Amino acid sequence: MSFSKIIGTGSYLPEKILTNHDLEKLLDTSDEWITTRTGIKQRHIIDKDQKTSDMAYEAAIKAINAAKIDKNTIDLIIVATTTPDKVFPSTACTLQNKLEIDGCPAFDVQAVCSGFIYGLSIADKYIKTRSARTVLLVGVDAMSTITDYTDRGNAILWGDGAGAVVLSNSHEPGILSTHIHAQGKYEDMLHVPRKIDQSKDTIEMVGNQVFKIAVKTLDKIVDETLEANNLRKSDIDWLVPHQANIRILEATAKKLSLSMDKVIVTIDRHGNTSAASIPLALDEGIQASKILPDQLVLMEAFGGGFTWGSALIRI
Ligand SMILES: CC(C)(COP(=O)(O)OP(=O)(O)OC[C@H]1O[C@@H](n2cnc3c(N)ncnc32)[C@H](O)[C@@H]1OP(=O)(O)O)[C@@H](O)C(=O)NCCC(=O)NCCS
Repeated sequence: MSFSKIIGTGSYLPEKILTNHDLEKLLDTSDEWITTRTGIKQRHIIDKDQKTSDMAYEAAIKAINAAKIDKNTIDLIIVATTTPDKVFPSTACTLQNKLEIDGCPAFDVQAVCSGFIYGLSIADKYIKTRSARTVLLVGVDAMSTITDYTDRGNAILWGDGAGAVVLSNSHEPGILSTHIHAQGKYEDMLHVPRKIDQSKDTIEMVGNQVFKIAVKTLDKIVDETLEANNLRKSDIDWLVPHQANIRILEATAKKLSLSMDKVIVTIDRHGNTSAASIPLALDEGIQASKILPDQLVLMEAFGGGFTWGSALIRI
């Protein structure tokens, strides 16, 4: 049996930082409100001349180096993003060109904040069915480019960044299971409608409703993942969650009876970077030697669509 395994991780955050105090100058808000309600203190923001694919490239190179592979052995590139450089072609094609890789399939996945889990699910299946041996998966978003900085109800949440993993075929798992779902009936609760005039398309969100549904849904996906693998809560070494709101992270940790020191938390410094948040957190946990080989990691995400999902992986 062939399994897929993550053999290298990398990440990238833009230099420019937007703090809560900076937002106080733009909006009717306060550092105290943002910190208490979300856990966010700052977020990274791309420069005007920077693109999503530039961030993806920086994270990808680090993951390729960490995996110690020849980039030309990559036979599939997947980019999970909601903020592609262009309407078309895909950011995955642009990234392939920047990496000077030729010929392998490359495509984007659009599942908003669940994009990395969706991408992981696809990559795992390509490898398990021997349709690919080495996959580059990048979660990347430039959420600042679709944020309305006059809307205090959600402008405070978003940040930019990229995280990447290289997956390879392996005799041992690896990825134990992935679980993905969607419920399109909720599309209007968190969306970026296309404007008919030429003004900027920006995020619209019913924050408190999204919050409640996210907590309930993540509760269920935790049960689904544990049951599918015949595992108990106590078997999980680390929770690497999508970073949407510290209160959502705490609710999932409570559900798993995990103390918060077993949860990789980046939201205070990164904000919500959408598809990038899980691979950014995973890379941080591995680089800090918190997450160690052989440990069991549960990842989960919830986002626009609604979409949601989880992955259980052995490092
Ligand atoms: C957005 C979010 C932080 C708002 O927090 P909340 O506790 O739900 O707050 P509410 O939206 O109910 O608003 C409560 C009050 O705070 C006010 N408020 C909203 N944003 C504010 C801000 N940035 N600063 C100060 N006050 C603010 C509201 O106007 C409201 O005032 P009112 O009671 O006078 O009407 C929270 O709902 C959230 O994180 N939701 C999940 C969003 C999410 O994760 N989305 C992405 C999914 S991937």
